[in-house]
Amino acid sequence: APVVAFQGEHQAGISTDVQNQLAFAAFDVTTPDRDDLVSMLQSWTTAAAAMAQGAPVPGSSATPDVPPADSGEADGLTPSRLTMTIGFGPSMFDDRFGLASRRPAALQPLPALPGELLDGSRSNGDIAVQACADDPQVAFHAIRSLARLGRGTVVNRWTQLGFGRTSTTGAGQSTPRNLMGFKDGTRNIRGDDTAALDQHVWVGNGADQAWMRGGTYLVARRIRMFVENWDRDYLSDQQEVFGRTKSAGAPLTGTAEFDTPDFGATGPDGTPVIADNAHIRLAAFENNNGLRILRRGYSFNDGIDPTTGDLEAGLFFISFQSDPATFVTLQRKLGSSDALNEYIQHVASGLFACPPGVTRNGDYWGSGLF
Ligand code: HEM
Repeated sequence: APVVAFQGEHQAGISTDVQNQLAFAAFDVTTPDRDDLVSMLQSWTTAAAAMAQGAPVPGSSATPDVPPADSGEADGLTPSRLTMTIGFGPSMFDDRFGLASRRPAALQPLPALPGELLDGSRSNGDIAVQACADDPQVAFHAIRSLARLGRGTVVNRWTQLGFGRTSTTGAGQSTPRNLMGFKDGTRNIRGDDTAALDQHVWVGNGADQAWMRGGTYLVARRIRMFVENWDRDYLSDQQEVFGRTKSAGAPLTGTAEFDTPDFGATGPDGTPVIADNAHIRLAAFENNNGLRILRRGYSFNDGIDPTTGDLEAGLFFISFQSDPATFVTLQRKLGSSDALNEYIQHVASGLFACPPGVTRNGDYWGSGLF
């Protein structure tokens, strides 16, 4: 079905099946007026609900002497499983809107992490919206429409387009490949694994801020891949970097993609089959006190790096977790030890608190905050 329900206990675009295309935008609020902010969130919610159905942004688009309410480029396209997911950054909870007392304790700016070289102009923001769809024009239209409705209230801080999902969240979905040519998403949390979602992704009823219950935290990391260097690396080394085979995606201790990695296995010379610095060894829940995240990232290419002539391509990593500290714990470890670090660099970052879903008409994104 090309329509994903907009209303629900949780926002769509998290545990729902990953679509193929991404348009992501972060905004800064420019109005000092809390009522303006609320009315923008109300208009965004109404527009998002309409667009998820494949309907235009509400309002007249056929009156000759006013600009059409909808820009029109999604007319005639199917809803394409469009989902729009909103999150609020730590900067929303300064004193501008009287929200300081509503800040969840977990929503602090991410600490500096090993190896990163962050571009502030592509990082952070007061509000983020993730639009995912199977048609790139539908995803773009969704972001453009919110930016338009937000004029005078927010400014666009940065945007990122993504093509090609790099994860699986649906039980029936096949595993895609990332730009390094490896299957990505094999051991991700699946949308039908409600026990894992409740434990690792959704903020529970014990949370300090009631408005976040049923919500989650979105971490975005723009991760540059040095694909030209990667393409010169031997196959055996590429496989050792991840701890998996390139073709089948099997752990180096198995033969099929979904075989469970055996992190204790050693070769004839006594060294571990999955190397100590292999990506999956460092990231796996078995080696991190059970910590898990839901990955939902996309590949990107933003042209050519003018300083080197190399492709400016990589992974726009997105993860959802009930506590951002889980991401920080994993990334501290990966950032300092991962064999992959020779071929990647984290170049932008964002953290956003995603409220629960809208469950009835008239309710709006983030209403629990105001
Ligand atoms: C697993 C690629 C960054 C967390 C994997 C797998 C691949 C991969 C190919 C194995 C298949 C799978 O189970 O999905 C990459 C690439 C990255 C990257 C190319 C950067 C460009 C990260 C980051 C984190 C992360 C930043 C978290 C901080 C994980 C986790 C797993 C995983 C938790 C599952 C490990 C397991 O349970 O076996 N990644 N990853 N990855 N990755 Fe990454």
